[in-house]
Amino acid sequence: MKPSTLSLAAILAVGCVANEELTCEKVEADIKTEELRNNLWHFQKIARDNGGNRAFGLPGYKASLDYVYERAVTRFGKHMDTYVQPFNHTFEQTRKLEVKGPDGKPVYAITLLYNHATPAGGVTAELVNTPVDDTKGSGCFAEQWTGVDAMGKLALVKRGVCAISDKLKLAKKAGALGVILYNQTPGTDYGSATLSAENIGQLVPAGLIPLEVANSWIPRLTAGEKLTASLLVDSVFETRLTWNLISETKEGDPNNVVMLGAHLDSVQAGPGVNDDGSGSTALLEIMGSFKKYKGFKNKVRFAWWGAEESGLVGSLYYTKNLSEQEADKIRFYFNYDMIGSPAPYFHVYQGENPGDIHGANNLMEYLTGKGKPAEIAGFGTSSDYVGFLNIGVPSSGLFTGAGAPQDPCYHLKCDTLDNIDWDALTANAKAAARAAAKFALSLDGVPPRNKTMATPNLRGRANLLNQFEKWARVEKQAEDSHSCAHKEHTVV
Ligand SMILES: *[C@@H]1O[C@H](CO)[C@@H](O)[C@H](O)[C@H]1NC(C)=O
Ligand SMILES: *[C@@H]1O[C@H](CO)[C@@H](O)[C@H](O)[C@H]1NC(C)=O
Ligand SMILES: *[C@@H]1O[C@H](CO)[C@@H](O)[C@H](O)[C@H]1NC(C)=O
Ligand SMILES: [Zn+2]
Repeated sequence: MKPSTLSLAAILAVGCVANEELTCEKVEADIKTEELRNNLWHFQKIARDNGGNRAFGLPGYKASLDYVYERAVTRFGKHMDTYVQPFNHTFEQTRKLEVKGPDGKPVYAITLLYNHATPAGGVTAELVNTPVDDTKGSGCFAEQWTGVDAMGKLALVKRGVCAISDKLKLAKKAGALGVILYNQTPGTDYGSATLSAENIGQLVPAGLIPLEVANSWIPRLTAGEKLTASLLVDSVFETRLTWNLISETKEGDPNNVVMLGAHLDSVQAGPGVNDDGSGSTALLEIMGSFKKYKGFKNKVRFAWWGAEESGLVGSLYYTKNLSEQEADKIRFYFNYDMIGSPAPYFHVYQGENPGDIHGANNLMEYLTGKGKPAEIAGFGTSSDYVGFLNIGVPSSGLFTGAGAPQDPCYHLKCDTLDNIDWDALTANAKAAARAAAKFALSLDGVPPRNKTMATPNLRGRANLLNQFEKWARVEKQAEDSHSCAHKEHTVV
């Protein structure tokens, strides 16, 4: 039967106002694999149309922001207040990278974010081998460089354990002209990493080559043969403007805010469908569900962070910029970064703040109830929760693993729609939706922000970043001491 004009108008009018009561069950049911996939299809297309990525400082990021903005403002504007938070950061792009071996022929090599340029013609110099230490890391400590005659040479250094920037700093101190870094595992399917803008000026140029290539040179070097290699890095640095997008429900107590965050940027190497299109699409669908309901006791605020891959820049900017009063109003932070890995584990974050357990329990209960092997895991240092942990906001979140075997396309060109486990993504998005709805209805039992965990003298940007760096190093060492630790969403 065809509805009359009148009743159709009535249906449409009803459709515009959120008059159904919010429940956890309704939002769970609203999250659909097809819609999660639809947003990811668009993110992949945005990357394809913009040089293959959605990275900070490049047009694919702006197009991703426009996509989320259009939904938040045009489609959901009646129910959401949205703003874009601009910030500047140093952008780097490597225009050319070349490593030539002792035979003068180029070998496979990739760059690192914030790689420093060599002189225009590149550097051709003697290769010097450096000792391997897979436990403490190779070239990670000053004493590992004593006895290495790197002055005026290219140092051959193994990747792993500590931040690559630490190795490059020590190489510079030892007088090396550059580092030829080789991967820890065989093959050419390895991703890049960021050296962090904080280290600009303190590093030597580097190129990242396969383990097999280094293994063909090392025996010759140890046998005393003198080998020459060359490294050319042509990179540009400049300040570029970028943005976080923040959108919150109009309804709900502004003094009690539940936050959900995902980063909207990818690495320059690929489209970032799992990292972190997966978290970004989950937030979009949760927002799309929430706009249908009323009865929000607490406000729900969604954040799509910029420049995460350059060093958590957008989220650190956001937390640094909050006044103490604004920070107090944020009662819980959920982080969703890489929640659809193709061979997923189900990590539910819970840290040292006693408040964390309230969010973690919500996520755990849903996932284990659906038969997922969910496990509690400590926070690392490599996603946007760091800024919130630093200001003492109770936090949790989900993570399904980076790098092989969980996500062999981590930070690579192949992080496409084919790199998603749809069942895991859907289950995690539903868990996230339920947990947000539950807190929107009641924050009973969730303790306020712990200001003594927050260190007030860290609020300056430089201090926050310094602290972050120090803390990252300590945490990293702690993680690496667990030999059975899962591969983290790591930047080394
Ligand atoms: C970004 O940098 C430009 C140029 O220095 C400046 O004009 C602008 O105000 C900055 N924007 C922000 C948000 O800091
Ligand atoms: C946050 O940024 C806004 C806009 O730039 C500024 O007006 C405000 O004073 C900042 N607040 C803090 C606490 O830094
Ligand atoms: C806040 O954190 C500090 C430092 O970790 C801890 O000693 C203290 O017990 C916490 N306070 C509350 C109320 O949880
Ligand atoms: Zn990520």
